[in-house]
Formats: sequence, C-alpha cells, structure tokens
Amino acid sequence: MHIEEIKKELEIELGQRLYRHSIGTMEEAEKLASLYGCDISKARIAGLLHDCGKIRCKDNLKHAKKSAELAQTKFGVKDKSIINAIMHHTTGRVNMTFLEKIIFIADKIEPNRHYEGVEEIRKEAYNNIDEAMIKSLESTIEYVKNRNMVLDMESVNTLNYLKEGK
Ligand SMILES: [Fe+2]
Ligand SMILES: [Fe+2]
Repeated sequence: MHIEEIKKELEIELGQRLYRHSIGTMEEAEKLASLYGCDISKARIAGLLHDCGKIRCKDNLKHAKKSAELAQTKFGVKDKSIINAIMHHTTGRVNMTFLEKIIFIADKIEPNRHYEGVEEIRKEAYNNIDEAMIKSLESTIEYVKNRNMVLDMESVNTLNYLKEGK
C-alpha cells in the first residue's frame, strides 16, 4: 500500500487524536532516522503504523502486538524490520535494532506528547538515543510502580540491557 493510501485508511481506523499522534510519530521518526543515518522510508512507515491496532485492542499492554499484526494484514507491510519496530515500540527489547530504538523514542517525544520530563528526553534523543531510552524507560517504570499498575518485565530487561552497554 502506498503511504498516502495508508494515511487515509489509518485516519478512519484510529480517529483524529490517535491519527495526529501517528503523524507526529512518523515525522519525529523521520528526523531521527536522517540524523542517525537510518532508512527514512522504513522509519516513516513504522512510525505511522506503530499504534494502528490500538483501537481494536482491549488490553493496552497488547496493543503493540496487535498493531504489528494489523500492519501486515490490513496495511500490507511485509518488511520484517518494520514489523519488529512496531511490535516492540512500547517496551523495547534486548539487542534491539536502531530502527526499533527510533520508533520507541519517536513515539515518546513526538510534539503532541505532554508529560513531566518530556523536554529532557526530547533533547537527549537528538544527542544520544540510548541515553534518551534509559531516561524514558526509567520514568515509565517509576510511573507504573507508583500507581501499582502492571509492569511489563520486558521494559526492565531493555533498561538493564541498555545500561550494560554504557
Ligand atoms: Fe503505542
Ligand atoms: Fe504511540
């Protein structure tokens, strides 16, 4: 599917608010990809579709998996590296690729995101993406713990992995 066609379908699928977030993530991913020398068209598609299954998914913890599935079945994405970037955008994973890091962080810093600490992560993303991911994961883990929400252990694994690499 061509990207303009994907956009049209996605807007219907997600509604205005989530569609805007998807466009924001696509544009942020494009900027990061050009700075770090990553494939720009893959970054754009992955950013655009990273939440495409969110409306159809009742359990928010599983929306990344659902989005990866829908990217293939509804939007015709075949590229495994794009699918993996969508699949792992909420928690990251051990040995993640650069494209996966870009989508993870673009989702957390795109211009429609407003939360405490976002400015610091935004700045760090364009300086050291691993450091930005560490900051983002630490703040997510803290947030989840403070509210007694379910913590996805994959986030902890990713955080430890990134810290080991320092
Ligand atoms: Fe998401
Ligand atoms: Fe998102």
